[in-house]
Amino acid sequence: MTGSDKQKRYESLYRQIESVIEGEDDAIANMANVSSLIHEAFGFWWTGFYIVKDGVLVLGPFQGPVACTRIPFGKGVCGTAWERQETIVVPDVHLFPGHIACSSLSRSEIVVPIFDGTTVKAVLDIDSKELATFDETDSHWLERITGLL
Ligand code: SME
Repeated sequence: MTGSDKQKRYESLYRQIESVIEGEDDAIANMANVSSLIHEAFGFWWTGFYIVKDGVLVLGPFQGPVACTRIPFGKGVCGTAWERQETIVVPDVHLFPGHIACSSLSRSEIVVPIFDGTTVKAVLDIDSKELATFDETDSHWLERITGLL
């Protein structure tokens, strides 16, 4: 996919997500539909949420194969994005120290923290079977999308 195709697909996805979550205030219901919409739009390998509960990330709504249920603060890509409070793009998961392999087929990953004020309340995690799937366009749009939640 070219950069311009990706941009267009995100523009349309963003509008679709806005309309699907409009008027619904249940976080789990919205995360469920958002994971489905992102997953279907790009055909990623795994797309889902981990939610901060009692000081640990717990698996939330997702699309794709079965995944690890709990990730501690500072562990894996998800726990590191939570600790740093910033989006992390991993072009090759095998080169990320401490990466948690829920699926051996995952090759690259992006994790976007979701904030309640200044506190991280959840993260969006997306895995790809290809290397270097994610770039600044993904960070930009996924941060905008998660800002709706
Ligand atoms: N790879 C993640 C774990 C979650 S799965 O990819 C669904 C991590 O290192 O945090």
